[in-house]
Amino acid sequence: MLVEAADRPESVLWDDWHVVAEITTLEQFGRMTSTLFERELLITREDKAVHVAYADGSGRIASTLKYGYVWASLGAGDRELVDFPEAAETDRHVLTVGSLGIRTSGLRLVENFIDVAHFPFVHTGYLGAEPDTEVQPYTIRVSADEVWVESGSCTQPMASAAAPGAAQIGYVFRVLRPYTVVLYKTNTHAPTRQDLLLLMVQPVSQERCIAHVLALVLNFEDARDIRSFQRLITGQDKPILENQRPSRLPLDPRSELPVRADAAGTAYRRWLVERGVSYGAIPPIRAVAFVG
Ligand SMILES: [Fe+2]
Repeated sequence: MLVEAADRPESVLWDDWHVVAEITTLEQFGRMTSTLFERELLITREDKAVHVAYADGSGRIASTLKYGYVWASLGAGDRELVDFPEAAETDRHVLTVGSLGIRTSGLRLVENFIDVAHFPFVHTGYLGAEPDTEVQPYTIRVSADEVWVESGSCTQPMASAAAPGAAQIGYVFRVLRPYTVVLYKTNTHAPTRQDLLLLMVQPVSQERCIAHVLALVLNFEDARDIRSFQRLITGQDKPILENQRPSRLPLDPRSELPVRADAAGTAYRRWLVERGVSYGAIPPIRAVAFVG
């Protein structure tokens, strides 16, 4: 496949690793197709090896396996994959909890994931409840590598499948890549430790994506319960995300007036602009000086 440079997303995305399939799904069928940045890919498993190639036969693509997923890079594949030392802890599940197609930009998913203000309205009875809707102040640190957001702890009626009742839950989000974010969330049975939820968004096109969620959760809970709880939560977000207009994330700070305190989303948008991300976004309008 001949791909013109102008037709490609920016290198920060093109050259990175992206999840393109769950290994269990691939094992079930032996071969499957998947789409990344509007390119159709063919994924095959022969013996233990996994191969990813352009579906039109025009060449192989760098691929690797980690955390139950097939990852692919349309570039050289020489970047580092995200890595979590917690995955090696023996009292933790490492679980793929579902891959859900959503008709919107993947950047909208990441912004929604780091926004705790929607919990009482969208995840009522689970991650929040009215009238307890006040958002505690965020602490935000931004570097070239990540956006780090700590929200004040909030009361959650049912923070996880095994939560014994309402609990005060602290949240730390780390946006590690434009389409990858991890949440560290207080475990209700071991309040000094945290469960991790990793959201990896597969950009199918600028206005379609697949949300892949990995849980690194302490094993107080049954794997099936963790899966069904997280699928319920992601399913609640899907219609909200699909109804947002425009589908692409506006990056001009003047284009969407904030209706509530969304400091985390604002920091994420600024970080995307600084990283030069435009795929899935409406880039800011540059000031133009007219002469004469
Ligand atoms: Fe949500």
